[in-house]
Amino acid sequence: MVSQRAADVTPFMAMDVLERANELDDVIHLEVGEPDFSPPERVIETAVESLRAGHTNYTAARGKPELRRAIAAHYDREYGVDIDPDRIVVTPGTSPALLLAMAALLDPGDEVVLTDPHYACYPNFVRAVSGHVRTVPLRPERGFQPRVSDFDAAVDADTAALLLNSPANPTGAVMDGETLAGLADVATDADATPVVDEVYHGLSYDAAEHTMLEYTDDAIVLNGFSKRFAMTGWRLGWMVVPPEYVDAVNRLAQNLLICAPNFVQDAGVAALETPPSRLDEIRETYRERRDLLVDAVADWGLDLGYTPQGAYYLLADVSHLPGDARDVANLLLEEAGVAVTPGVDFGEEAADYLRFSYATDADAIETAIERIEQVLPDRA
Ligand SMILES: Cc1ncc(COP(=O)(O)O)c(C=O)c1O
Repeated sequence: MVSQRAADVTPFMAMDVLERANELDDVIHLEVGEPDFSPPERVIETAVESLRAGHTNYTAARGKPELRRAIAAHYDREYGVDIDPDRIVVTPGTSPALLLAMAALLDPGDEVVLTDPHYACYPNFVRAVSGHVRTVPLRPERGFQPRVSDFDAAVDADTAALLLNSPANPTGAVMDGETLAGLADVATDADATPVVDEVYHGLSYDAAEHTMLEYTDDAIVLNGFSKRFAMTGWRLGWMVVPPEYVDAVNRLAQNLLICAPNFVQDAGVAALETPPSRLDEIRETYRERRDLLVDAVADWGLDLGYTPQGAYYLLADVSHLPGDARDVANLLLEEAGVAVTPGVDFGEEAADYLRFSYATDADAIETAIERIEQVLPDRA
């Protein structure tokens, strides 16, 4: 019989939309969060060289020392923080890192406080280890920025972790340093650990990026190569853990994951050495696409109410259109051939919204905008 834990795990709706979209012809994909760039050429060359050199066996569960040193150097370069490579555990993506973090922190019944809207999969990571989710609502009029006082009110004796994400999926909100520092204090006072998913770092357009590690060493920080380096299918990520969790996380990694692919770890070192000018170029391209979509949403008469500052998503309120947001998403898919994700995937607070991803080239976005214009009911 399927366990209660497995039964409680909800489908990832963006993937359901993708499945339906793939059955139709000529669909523009604004539903998935998959970069349309190739990884830097040097990354591909390094992976091939590493494969040819026979680097195909297991590595230490915590990852190759060269990659852990390269990740530590990345923190020094990007944020001026000094991280001991011994606190870094390499994982096959950010998702397994999330699983290890939850497994390391939660006993059955423990609570994790996270925002609503949130990344669709977060509650399922919590449920997978028999934890409970408590949500803190975010408001568009605050740019979907979390308020420290809301977290303060939400934590209690059962809270084991605060699960945070900046730049955020699905809102594109980027937390400022003051908020991160405030949330670190809330966690300390509640004897809980901040778990901060920084997988969209490197993709912020108008806001300075801060890692939680600037404010506390008592956080588990997750990151990966999928988004910034467009390496989704390579499966590579990492976590930085407080010293007292290193041994537990390493034992979990040894048992549950064995290791990240050996030659991909070599490619990860090359990715971290990508010239900043190439990464800036990619960021600029995303910024242009964001501006295109933000303007279009306003032209459609939909209420954005904020400017998304990072990642490659925006949430648009469609509550004044006929039907619910799922009906509007269906209309856009079936009548306009544009796939978007209904907001309910990201929490109850997002139920009246659609998430648009701009990880698609500008020409396709422009065509999508024209097509949507034609099927939307007359605007106010
Ligand atoms: C917020 C967030 N965290 C984690 C992931 C998964 O990343 P990875 O490919 O590194 O497992 C995603 C993917 O969309 C995401 O949006």
